[in-house]
Amino acid sequence: MTSSLTWLGHATWLLETAGIKVLIDPFLDGNPAASQKAGDVAADFVLITHGHGDHIADAASIASRTGATVIAAFEICEWLSARGVAKTHPMNIGGAFQFPFGRLQVTIAHHSSMLPDGANGGAPVGYILTLTEGKRVYFAGDTGVFLDMQRLGREPIAVAVLPIGDNFTMGPDESIEAIQLIRPEIVLPSHYNTWPVIAQDAGRWAERVRHETAARPVVLQPGESWSWN
Ligand code: NI
Ligand code: MN
Repeated sequence: MTSSLTWLGHATWLLETAGIKVLIDPFLDGNPAASQKAGDVAADFVLITHGHGDHIADAASIASRTGATVIAAFEICEWLSARGVAKTHPMNIGGAFQFPFGRLQVTIAHHSSMLPDGANGGAPVGYILTLTEGKRVYFAGDTGVFLDMQRLGREPIAVAVLPIGDNFTMGPDESIEAIQLIRPEIVLPSHYNTWPVIAQDAGRWAERVRHETAARPVVLQPGESWSWN
């Protein structure tokens, strides 16, 4: 069974697996690097890592238009419900649930999570998704490196999506350390080149990944997809 990841720009990803579309951290209409508009994206599920605008801006409008179920921290689900999102699935750190697209577990992330209007978004999170065919995919969300990443990699991780932009999240140096802890087969960079403050040379980063870790880097441009079996 083929699964694919499409980078829509910044930290917005579309995972397609088992015929299901899972949209991660939708930030499109206000995103200078977005490859499409919020009104054009399809989703069965919307997965949110934390409450910042560059991860949640288009979640309510996309969920309302598509009827997608939003999966997020409890506090974010409450906030989206109050904004007209009909279907939410609240979770929190350490918890896992079997969804039609795989088993999703919530992990820690070292960051913050205030919602755009100042409401409390709970704890920021990352996700480990075990796909139907058994491969594990790690979405780190916005975070610095943390030693528990070693524990996340105890069971093999096939694909890791890590921020490399620096300033708000880990940068290239810390991402190399993270890859050494997680030991994924494939790593895709995220959360960079949206604005000058998080500009990074992804080609140079990929060279470092090849030389300093055992992972294979896959660098996409916004709108590009990568698929695996
Ligand atoms: Ni953030
Ligand atoms: Mn962010």
